[in-house]
Amino acid sequence: MADIRNYQWWQRSVIYQIYPRSFMDANGDGIGDLRGIIQRLDYLSDTLGVEAIWLSPFYPSPMADFGYDVADYTNVDPIFGDLDDFDELVRRAHDRDLKIIVDYVPNHCSDQHAWFIESSSDKNNPKRDWYTWRDAKTDGSPPNNWLSVFGGSAWEWHPATEQYYLHSFLKEQPDLNWRNPQLKEVMFDVLRFWLDRGVDGFRIDVAHFIMKDPQLRDNPLKEVVSSDFHKPLGDYDTQIHVYSQDHADIHPLYREIRHLLDEYSQEKPRFSAGEIHIFEWGKWSRYYGRDLDELHMPLNFQLLGVDLQVEKVRQVVDAQEQALPSGAWPNYVLGNHDETRVASRYSEQEARLMAMLLLTLRGTPTLYYGEEIGMREASIPADQQQDPWGIQVPGLSRDGCRTPMQWNDREKAGFSAAGGYQPWLPVNDNFGEINVAGQLQEPGSMLNLYRHLLSIRKSSPPLQIGSYHPFNNIDKNCYAYRRILPGHREHIVLLNFSPEQLTINLGQTGIARVQLSTYLDRDEHIDLSRVHLREHEGVIVENAG
Ligand code: GLC
Ligand code: CA
Repeated sequence: MADIRNYQWWQRSVIYQIYPRSFMDANGDGIGDLRGIIQRLDYLSDTLGVEAIWLSPFYPSPMADFGYDVADYTNVDPIFGDLDDFDELVRRAHDRDLKIIVDYVPNHCSDQHAWFIESSSDKNNPKRDWYTWRDAKTDGSPPNNWLSVFGGSAWEWHPATEQYYLHSFLKEQPDLNWRNPQLKEVMFDVLRFWLDRGVDGFRIDVAHFIMKDPQLRDNPLKEVVSSDFHKPLGDYDTQIHVYSQDHADIHPLYREIRHLLDEYSQEKPRFSAGEIHIFEWGKWSRYYGRDLDELHMPLNFQLLGVDLQVEKVRQVVDAQEQALPSGAWPNYVLGNHDETRVASRYSEQEARLMAMLLLTLRGTPTLYYGEEIGMREASIPADQQQDPWGIQVPGLSRDGCRTPMQWNDREKAGFSAAGGYQPWLPVNDNFGEINVAGQLQEPGSMLNLYRHLLSIRKSSPPLQIGSYHPFNNIDKNCYAYRRILPGHREHIVLLNFSPEQLTINLGQTGIARVQLSTYLDRDEHIDLSRVHLREHEGVIVENAG
């Protein structure tokens, strides 16, 4: 029989993503920091009730891509604090049984990293091969047609050594060459460094990029321009990226990484989640490994672009369930530091419905800081824009979802000490209405919805690890599923995706109890043959029968 103790922490947890620059600024310089996160641990573990936090990069960096351009993999940028602060954060988080996941950026580093400085100093430098350097074609053009995700060619000419180097993102982010054995070993040491410091796992940045075609063949062009992402990316959408990412050799490499993590797991279980922007289920699920010996979870981004129709949403859930190798654990992402904020993609009622979906499906959910209070996308004046992607490709800026966390209605929304410096991105104007302190006082707030969802999930083994069984032919606007775990009362989740009221007959009689409604005003017994749902209402029902 399924026993919750047989499940790992990362299967039972809700993972909360912190963008360190924007969460809490303890020293008033306008940029969030590790001590700020320490100050907010009570909020995370007690007030909100998440079980794990994932920190976006806090490593030394020139910040060309706000930390995803790492200049030293085994240190803390002074803006964020130092290694002692990090150790204290880990210790204090662990005291609360809060797990710490850090970002690992294996595809590229900063052009200011000592390795790249050496590599670019001379064609014969021993680290030359740690990156991908190639001669120009005879006409001077780049070695192949690969494009940078952030726009333009993926190759940058280096006049001093008269070769091009490969960068799948900014030219300030040269790609590391994982086919070089020494590079591979030092990058494995980076994992060991953080594991030795006690981290519980890694979120691996663009994990599917680290092995490319060794012959560097041209990518085929698309006949019709289309995105293989959940959103259009401009020029990048003109090619089929078969050679520039996801080479078959990536799988043995992840098996090695998993082996390293498994060794450390003998001490305590460690975890890996990969940012895999692959929207073909078969290719995506390969990253679990044929014998579940690669990533613990390739992150699933398919809910991000989905239309809010039962059929479409359910299709994502059912397709993932089918695509999973046997024994693999599902997951769902609704927002992160690269995406338009959830509360701006949907209406308030829809955002509540999606929160209930996310936290009641089978699988590990990730939450992005601020989602729990319904933080909206901010519009950033042109002269305050920061994101290099948005500056390179207008319309793709990610600044709007990275503004300071809105803690209260005081100056700078409580993100940063009063007086002092302005936050690195402006606080959203709406912080007077949307903030943690205010929502804690309002029983029906978004924050209270998240708190209830998290606490019900935590106290309900069927919601954490139970199996998932959708109801068929209920009503085209109602998504309904059961979460079943033998030995426990089943939970039924009913989600009304329409702006109309509905009365649902679940085809069974019996009295059940509404544990939670997205309206936060129901605690009653209902008849399963006649469940009334208001506009966009979602309910969790515990079946007594
Ligand atoms: C990932 C990160 C994104 C970053 C990019 C390049 O997609 O989520 O923020 O810009 O990788 O590192
Ligand atoms: Ca600071």
